Amino acid sequence: MTTDIQPSPSPASSLTPVLEMRGITKRFHGVPALQGVNLTIYPGEVHALMGENGAGKSTLMKILAGAYIADEGEIYVDGQRLNITDPSTARRAGINLIYQELNVAPNLTVTENIFMGSELRRGQLLDRERMNQEAERVLQSLGATFAPTNLVSTLSIAEQQVVEIARALKDNSRILVMDEPTAALSDRETERLFEVIRKLRQDGIAIIYISHRMEEVYALANRVSVLRDGQYIGSLTRDEISPERLVQMMVGRPMGDFYEHQRQTNPGDVVLEVKNLSGGKVHPCNLTLRAGEIVGLAGLVGAGRTELSRLIFGADPKASGEVWLNGKKLEIHSPGDAIAAGIGYVPEDRKDQGLFLEMTSGKNITLNMLKQDSKVGVINWQSLG
Ligand SMILES: Nc1ncnc2c1ncn2[C@@H]1O[C@H](COP(=O)(O)OP(=O)(O)OP(=O)(O)O)[C@@H](O)[C@H]1O
Ligand SMILES: [Mg+2]
Repeated sequence: MTTDIQPSPSPASSLTPVLEMRGITKRFHGVPALQGVNLTIYPGEVHALMGENGAGKSTLMKILAGAYIADEGEIYVDGQRLNITDPSTARRAGINLIYQELNVAPNLTVTENIFMGSELRRGQLLDRERMNQEAERVLQSLGATFAPTNLVSTLSIAEQQVVEIARALKDNSRILVMDEPTAALSDRETERLFEVIRKLRQDGIAIIYISHRMEEVYALANRVSVLRDGQYIGSLTRDEISPERLVQMMVGRPMGDFYEHQRQTNPGDVVLEVKNLSGGKVHPCNLTLRAGEIVGLAGLVGAGRTELSRLIFGADPKASGEVWLNGKKLEIHSPGDAIAAGIGYVPEDRKDQGLFLEMTSGKNITLNMLKQDSKVGVINWQSLG
């Protein structure tokens, strides 16, 4: 990965910050997610926002984009106080957020996605020709190779992200927030995205870049700010960034403690055996898991790691192969069979596949016990929590 060293605007610089968030506090049902958080962003910088899971990064950015309203605190854009009460106020001020979970309509075209909510018209009619031309212009500036008339469902995740960036640029974005944009990208797609980001920076756009990945922060960031448990811990300029300092700031203790763990040297008996399991794009796979063992399943994006896990769990139909548990062959035809056999599955997309967000934590935890807690088909919600 190439490193791209740029002079970093420091807080002492004479530039006026394009954005200042001061004393931002947000509670969800009385539980604080952010407490008095500050963030200062200069024009033309890539500013990394780091912190562990649940530190409050997405919440802070959703407040900036008008998706949430802060309980306390102030936001200044170009030194002017801005009361961001909804997403359109943020967009009018040139603030755009590309969400952790992408926000495109797959069954619409690229142009329709880019102009959604701000369609160009000629009289009463939509001016499709002008919208396609305008979309083409923005896409070309981003080096995109797909056509504005393509359906978004035919694009890769990386290309869909470019559609979102194009939508932001068309709105004359000056502050672009990207929430973990590379999570689902291959190395090549990541490099492409970095080129786009560097180009946007050259054009003077400030980019707030949320990432857990140290090497990305090195490759891109002029400065980095760290949140921990909803609190602002501090900011570092590019010259001050080191893995040790960042880890210390993010987890609150030095890296030595962080990585030291007892390695279990003698795993127990074989618990799970996967024999020639195949299905979908997964060719026959073998895997053995022993008691007390953690087995890593490594591979590039698209290598089939998730697909293999889903086959074991019965979430997708298998074409061949067997799954054995404690020396007994299992008949798994659905996730229910796997759960009954004592196999759990935590999917990669926690919000879409893992949780019912509108239900309480208690109900989510006990949902897989519905059978035990039902009498003659009626759910006993009380005992479920
Ligand atoms: N809509 C919501 N309702 C209730 N609690 C929420 C909501 N959104 C976030 N939280 C809570 O606020 C805290 C901060 O969450 P947030 O998603 O901002 O963290 P994050 O730093 O983006 O984490 P990650 O790295 O996992 O994306 C967490 O404790 C989370 O559970
Ligand atoms: Mg987040």
